[in-house]
Amino acid sequence: MRYGDLVHYDPIETIINLKDADDEEKAAALVKSYVMSDNMAENIVNICISQLQFDETIDNKGLFIVGNYGTGKSHLMSVISSIAENEKLLKFVTNDKFKDGMKRIAGKFKVLRFDIGSTDMPLRDIVLSKVEENIHQLGIEYNFPSMDKVANNKDSLMEMMALFEEKYPGKGYLIVVDELFDFLKTRKEQELIKDLAFLREIGEISKSTKIRFMSGVQESLFDNPGFQFVARTILKVKDRFEQIIIKREDISYVVSERILKKR
Ligand SMILES: Nc1ncnc2c1ncn2[C@@H]1O[C@H](COP(=O)(O)OP(=O)(O)OP(=O)(O)O)[C@@H](O)[C@H]1O
Ligand SMILES: [Mg+2]
Repeated sequence: MRYGDLVHYDPIETIINLKDADDEEKAAALVKSYVMSDNMAENIVNICISQLQFDETIDNKGLFIVGNYGTGKSHLMSVISSIAENEKLLKFVTNDKFKDGMKRIAGKFKVLRFDIGSTDMPLRDIVLSKVEENIHQLGIEYNFPSMDKVANNKDSLMEMMALFEEKYPGKGYLIVVDELFDFLKTRKEQELIKDLAFLREIGEISKSTKIRFMSGVQESLFDNPGFQFVARTILKVKDRFEQIIIKREDISYVVSERILKKR
């Protein structure tokens, strides 16, 4: 018998690209390979799933998935969003607590996923142009007014969701954005204030519509010394967002599970 027959080694090297989860087969592989401890499953159920769900009325907020480089943020967001989109993937979940919690949102969403690359566009324009492109593909004819024509973005998002509801009754719309922290770090004060104001609006809209927003960030925005100069604006975002922090302990569990996993 060869060593390879006894143990199965999944190398933890590749960085997960959020867009991979757009493909059903790749999404299934991501769901199968995601390892989590019970403790982590509990946190995800309590923080993420309760914010994403819409069967019970709570003061729903936006979500930040916080963790250092390589801690699995993109992988986790791929797993959550793929199951949210496709109930069939639930059967590949390995942790029972997580599987049970995910039943609440499985298959209930249309999902938009994208990364923010290097760009000078305002966050509002980045997000709304992606949403616009995506809803057109979903057969919804709606164009967002330009920023100089509107007092806020919430009214347009509500109008868009009214059309969405007609076309997809009962479904939610989940927007998943990766690499947000790297983008925000490049922004100058006035730009950043506008970007944060938009984040706050997105967080607020989760309360009154079935729009949900989840984003991966390498560091928490809250109490971050790097954002001290916009601390007051950050506080307003904090009001409308929950965050889950992926900790080192969670990762060591993953590594031990992945290195020596019986076939
Ligand atoms: N809980 C986990 N179970 C299985 N694999 C994991 C887990 N967490 C991380 N990995 C693996 O670690 C690698 C890095 O994960 P991922 O790309 O999602 O990290 P990240 O936090 O998004 O990193 P970055 O900040 O650089 O974008 C991937 O190969 C991923 O499959
Ligand atoms: Mg990532």
